[in-house]
Amino acid sequence: MASSARTAAALLKRTINSSSLQVSSVGLRGIATSPAVEQAAPSSPSSTVNATSSVKTKSQPNLKKFSIYRWNPDENKKPQVQTYTINTNECGPMVLDALIKIKNEVDTGLSFRRSCREGICGSCAMNMDGKNGLACLTKINSDSAKETLITPLPHMFVVKDLVVDMTNFYSQYKSIEPWLKRKTPNKNPGKENYQSEQDRKKLDGMYECILCACCSTSCPSYWWNPEKYLGPAALLHAHRWIADSRDEYTKERLESIDDEFKLYRCHTIMNCANACPKGLNPGLQISKIKKLQATR
Ligand code: SF4
Ligand code: SF4
Ligand code: FES
Repeated sequence: MASSARTAAALLKRTINSSSLQVSSVGLRGIATSPAVEQAAPSSPSSTVNATSSVKTKSQPNLKKFSIYRWNPDENKKPQVQTYTINTNECGPMVLDALIKIKNEVDTGLSFRRSCREGICGSCAMNMDGKNGLACLTKINSDSAKETLITPLPHMFVVKDLVVDMTNFYSQYKSIEPWLKRKTPNKNPGKENYQSEQDRKKLDGMYECILCACCSTSCPSYWWNPEKYLGPAALLHAHRWIADSRDEYTKERLESIDDEFKLYRCHTIMNCANACPKGLNPGLQISKIKKLQATR
């Protein structure tokens, strides 16, 4: 991403709930407000028919509105919420399906991340109707009278539209050294470091994390101290390696996070567990780290 875009994005930190948001409307086939996007989007009836003709449709269209946060660092404009109306009978059941339909058929300029579309890569994390989650695992609200509001993950720098800057999040993850560290050589050179089934089970509830950041960006403590507090995702991973029977740096790992800000900004509010789309409980793992700190 261009550094100028980053700089501009930095200026818009924490703008999601800003009162400066403006609302505009976009119809089923095109955008009235943006000539640049109009150029890219299909505008003739025939091109719209082509885009949808291969999809099996129910007889009655189910028109639903999606209001989406938009901000482009290359345009000298404030962030705004743009509303798109689409026929949800012509797309899959998840919010990501609706976003892909909007991008493919209405507004090619809309930016969001996605890859696996099955809750594995963690890239489609965003805020939908006030709750963080994965767009590919979040069902479209079937009530067509209700608009769905989609905004970027809260309290993050916005790069463009729904894409946020994950640099700080990933460096915090890197800081806990998320790899196996040993002092003694492997007893079986050239083979894995073996672990009993019982010890392997101790990693359940942690190894499943996909680093989507839904938890950290829903944590009030992380909102206020994102540079100093490691946040629930990085701390969950810290405990994942502390609890690993094969790792021989437990003491050093505990020491490195025994810090008023890095660890003890967690006040057990548990928003993190509520937000995790994989059903994990980072708050619980943090409390286990605190217990270990108290007994060492
Ligand atoms: S339990 Fe800790 S990490 Fe989780 S939301 Fe609360 S303060 Fe944040
Ligand atoms: S703990 Fe859950 S919410 Fe947090 S990063 Fe991992 S998968 Fe995402
Ligand atoms: S697209 Fe991979 S988790 Fe949603």
